[in-house]
Amino acid sequence: MLRIKNLNAYYGDVQVLYDVNVEVNDGEIVTILGSNGAGKTSLMKTICGIETRRKGVIEFNGENLINLPAHKLITRGITLTPEGRHLFPELTVRENLLLGAYAINKKINDTYEKVLEMFPRLKERLSQFAGTMSGGEQQMCAIGRALMSNPTFLMLDEPSLGLAPNIVEQVFDIIKKINKENGITVMVVEQNANIALQTADRAYALENGEIKMSGDAKDMLRSPDIQKLYLGL
Ligand SMILES: Nc1ncnc2c1ncn2[C@@H]1O[C@H](COP(=O)(O)OP(=O)(O)OP(=O)(O)O)[C@@H](O)[C@H]1O
Ligand SMILES: [Mg+2]
Repeated sequence: MLRIKNLNAYYGDVQVLYDVNVEVNDGEIVTILGSNGAGKTSLMKTICGIETRRKGVIEFNGENLINLPAHKLITRGITLTPEGRHLFPELTVRENLLLGAYAINKKINDTYEKVLEMFPRLKERLSQFAGTMSGGEQQMCAIGRALMSNPTFLMLDEPSLGLAPNIVEQVFDIIKKINKENGITVMVVEQNANIALQTADRAYALENGEIKMSGDAKDMLRSPDIQKLYLGL
């Protein structure tokens, strides 16, 4: 579905990604691991055409997206839940969700109902200001908002950030459900290697802007290098 070939990216003259090669097959959950500053967010932004200058190939369903502006991505079925969630804190949950469909010229009632079914917690809180919700609820709202555009490819940047372990599990259960029951392909960037590798089919490890390792997620979970670097074992 997604084939990234020799992707290089720059902030001004400073290079941040070096010949990155990543593939995501239809129906997979793929995780990109990496420590602070590894370039995970930069990779997400670069795929989306935000902020960085980029060179290489970003092929999605056979189309090279390298010259496609960010606001067009949603029309190709790609959506991003950014690091830090970026909800509108002074808008309600309902308004935040509806904004996820803002750029889509379609009837959204069915999608809205489906999203609320998936997140009963949000359904109870539609009139609450997003900024007053707990971190876990805000992450659910951010994912729900992303789903409002009916994507086929969902990108998530550190959904576990700042959440308690049991909430992290809930968030990843939902990610699995989105993948298995709704057939949405997922690319998730994480520092929490443990839960990410348990959830994903395949994984890549990014360090200093380069892919250093890749493979089956369960194999990576058992790899001594991964255990030492990311699992603190
Ligand atoms: N807008 C920017 N301008 C210049 N440099 C940037 C910019 N954003 C990020 N960088 C640099 O790019 C490198 C990678 O940062 P990035 O945010 O992609 O890392 P990350 O893996 O997402 O880290 P974290 O786990 O902390 O979120 C860092 O050295 C960072 O300082
Ligand atoms: Mg980041």
